[in-house]
Amino acid sequence: MGAIRVMPELLIGQIAAGEVVERPASVLKELLENSLDAGAAEIQVALEAGGARRVQVDDDGAGIPRDELALALARHATSKIASLADLESVATMGFRGEALASMAAVARVEIVSRPRDAAHAWSVTAEGGAAREARPAARAPGSTVAVADLYFNTPARRKFLRAEATEFGHCDEAFRRIALAHPSIAFTLRHNGRVSSHLAPQSAAARAAALLGNAFAAASVAVDASAGALRLHGLAGTPQAARNRADAQYFYVNGRYVRDRLLAHAVREAYRDTLHGERQPAFALFLELDPRAVDVNVHPAKTEVRFRDARGVHQFVFHALSRALSPTAAEAPVSYAAFASQGPAIQAALAMREPAPAAWPAAAPAPATLPAAEKAPPLGYALAQLHGVYVLAQNEAGLVLVDMHAAHERILMEKMKAALDRGGLERQSLLVPAVLRAEALDVATAEENREALETLGLELSVAGPNELAVRAAPAQLSGGDVAGLARALLAELREFGAARVLAARRNELLATMACHAAVRANRALSVPEMNALLREMEETERSGSCNHGRPTWYQLTLADLDKLFLRGR
Ligand SMILES: Nc1ncnc2c1ncn2[C@@H]1O[C@H](COP(=O)(O)OP(=O)(O)OP(=O)(O)O)[C@@H](O)[C@H]1O
Ligand SMILES: [Mg+2]
Repeated sequence: MGAIRVMPELLIGQIAAGEVVERPASVLKELLENSLDAGAAEIQVALEAGGARRVQVDDDGAGIPRDELALALARHATSKIASLADLESVATMGFRGEALASMAAVARVEIVSRPRDAAHAWSVTAEGGAAREARPAARAPGSTVAVADLYFNTPARRKFLRAEATEFGHCDEAFRRIALAHPSIAFTLRHNGRVSSHLAPQSAAARAAALLGNAFAAASVAVDASAGALRLHGLAGTPQAARNRADAQYFYVNGRYVRDRLLAHAVREAYRDTLHGERQPAFALFLELDPRAVDVNVHPAKTEVRFRDARGVHQFVFHALSRALSPTAAEAPVSYAAFASQGPAIQAALAMREPAPAAWPAAAPAPATLPAAEKAPPLGYALAQLHGVYVLAQNEAGLVLVDMHAAHERILMEKMKAALDRGGLERQSLLVPAVLRAEALDVATAEENREALETLGLELSVAGPNELAVRAAPAQLSGGDVAGLARALLAELREFGAARVLAARRNELLATMACHAAVRANRALSVPEMNALLREMEETERSGSCNHGRPTWYQLTLADLDKLFLRGR
């Protein structure tokens, strides 16, 4: 070890650059953010060799006056904040005054810029350090910033650059993250001279469709909720838009793309019981709040944030998203059904829905065919049961196919959820107690968790050293598999304990209960029973998919059927 020395400025810059300029995509992100801060309406990106050879961003923003050009490249020089108070309420993407300086330390940087009121442009360059003398140049008002030969003077870092296609992929993603949040700005992305993306100014929904695909747009619901100074808006993919990879998850805080654990958790919770297994939701969500309520100065790339009221933000995002994701069947987007393209008829019908009658499986009076005068309910009237598994119904648009077990499961789950929220499930005494064989540990579990079991609608008593008797069961379960349910609940309680079962594992638990309680396949249903099921679906939140995320019903329109039979109309 040598003596302690102050580092030369260039070395400081090169070390700092490691944090901000990780790869070409981070250069692109910083340049794009500068253009946004400059109020650009049109931004053009040109990349060469995945951005490693050149990242260039052109904008029509405010420009930089000649006498500030050298400063723009200097460390700790910014036009965006001047005080701690400014920092605490910062509304621009940049504020540290180090992005361009960091790039200048590890690449060849050129800025050509012209403020709107300047007679012509000026250009300045920097290669591994401070800026050279500014020279007159030609361009329209706005700025062009080019960052070439990244890491030309730091070979060790250059080795970490990946293949051109990989680096381009990262740049493309950085571009997408910014373009998605600024639909009113026009963007062009070129790679090696070829246009790979061109986006005209458009609505937020159109921009999302352009960047995330029409399939996402068709299978997502709009979110727009406010509470005080908090607002969440954007698009949330339904279970049908879910993917195998978490590659379409865009969350923004005040226009800034973030990857935040708190927000990720709130989103995961909101999607929890609608997604099947490991499926990943797709979404583009924008949280807006008072800039003073969030600290963005916690991460070099500013992708993490800290909320002053973390709990409040979590609650708000969770509830806003849950609400948006839980339309009743009657309001569910037609994209819940696969044959979504011919939706208007059913949607028109949905708009006219009437309150649903009687509770399942009580008989509800319903004609087998559509009465002409009355408004038909959205899911129509039952025609028949197919192989003991599916319910066929006729509605205004055509044929409705329902997976009766899956649908019933969802209905029960939502009912039980609501009941638990009110304090507990309603219990119904059994005329003949159901007896089940139980191990000593089960008997002990039943005694220890009497209260939790009662909350869940079960009353158990010890019938013998190896026997338990179910004396009361959840009212929802009438006719279901009472002993099986008791066994499943005891297993849960044994493994996780009452507190966790009722809180963290609540939805898993309710899904298990619903599964035991729901009508089994092969049970013959009468037409009134089937109609009651349809009416309940119309009233139930999230009834478009079962507790495991599979769809519960499909619409086959007359047009679909005509197509099937090659029948022209
Ligand atoms: N495209 C641009 N148009 C107009 N001014 C720009 C542009 N790019 C940079 N500037 C000016 O140069 C300054 C330095 O930019 P730089 O990105 O280094 O820092 P910053 O944006 O202020 O903060 P941060 O380091 O957080 O990005 C900015 O404050 C801004 O005044
Ligand atoms: Mg910046």
